[in-house]
Amino acid sequence: MTEHEADVLIACTQLTQVYRVGSSEVIALQGLDLDVGIGEMVGVVGASGSGKSTLMSVLSAMLKPTGGQVVIGGLDLGAARNSEVDRYRRETIGIVLQDAASNLLPYLTAEQNVSLPLELNGDPEAAVRAHELLELVDLADRAGHHAHELSGGEQQRVALAMALAHKPKILLADEPTGALDSANTEAMFALMGRVGSETGLTQVIVSHDPELARHVDRVVSIRDGRVAAEQRWVGAGEQVDEVLVVDSIGRLQLTDEQLAVLGDQRRVRAEIADNTIEIRRADDE
Ligand SMILES: Nc1ncnc2c1ncn2[C@@H]1O[C@H](COP(=O)(O)OP(=O)(O)OP(=O)(O)O)[C@@H](O)[C@H]1O
Ligand SMILES: [Mg+2]
Repeated sequence: MTEHEADVLIACTQLTQVYRVGSSEVIALQGLDLDVGIGEMVGVVGASGSGKSTLMSVLSAMLKPTGGQVVIGGLDLGAARNSEVDRYRRETIGIVLQDAASNLLPYLTAEQNVSLPLELNGDPEAAVRAHELLELVDLADRAGHHAHELSGGEQQRVALAMALAHKPKILLADEPTGALDSANTEAMFALMGRVGSETGLTQVIVSHDPELARHVDRVVSIRDGRVAAEQRWVGAGEQVDEVLVVDSIGRLQLTDEQLAVLGDQRRVRAEIADNTIEIRRADDE
């Protein structure tokens, strides 16, 4: 194992996901490469249909990769036995869904929602732990409220507490703020960031919200089923750099702006000069 591999918790290599619908096929992911480090908080953005939710389904072991490899904490999800996958889902990951209502049981209080899964797991400290978790998400004062007596933002924070109850290594959240207003969105991302730095949790968060970028270590853009670009930020929301990503078999996706320079000409020359690669239209001679 190299030093780099030791720090990587999630490694997707040439991940391909194909849905079969009747006799036709939909290619949702095509050769996606993505590494996520231990304790890293990564945002995933991309147009509708670009494959973000499909990636999350693979990472949460709801879908087996149809091609390529996904190795998480040493477990190859495509090759793992069912018992290993079950254990991975129970112990390694926590999930927050977009829809607050589907994260919680409406007839239970916030505290009961958090403690129930712990009790079912036979945790004798379930009530104590539930209280700690509600404190972690700043909702100790709402512990006795039923789910429907909480705002959407509060419900999502309870959902986060539930997702963290079994101390997962990885939190997977697909549009966790999709149904929230901007103030609650900000609060949710800030909370996820704080939880990440306090607990060393690794997080993959899909969101359309531009606020996401200020709270994560890195944003990856998915285009047509693979990672096309990455952005990193420094404090105060200032972007430090945006880079295109060349995948493991050498493919590169240009931005729309760069494609516009090519116009209709899709044949280019890539020339190496002094350690740089220049891409120019093949007819620009
Ligand atoms: N269960 C399914 N069966 C067939 N095709 C699917 C299925 N789920 C997704 N797809 C297709 O796979 C592609 C990627 O879908 P996916 O849901 O991963 O996109 P997304 O990036 O999450 O989009 P959105 O931002 O709208 O949530 C789309 O073309 C979609 O129509
Ligand atoms: Mg989606």
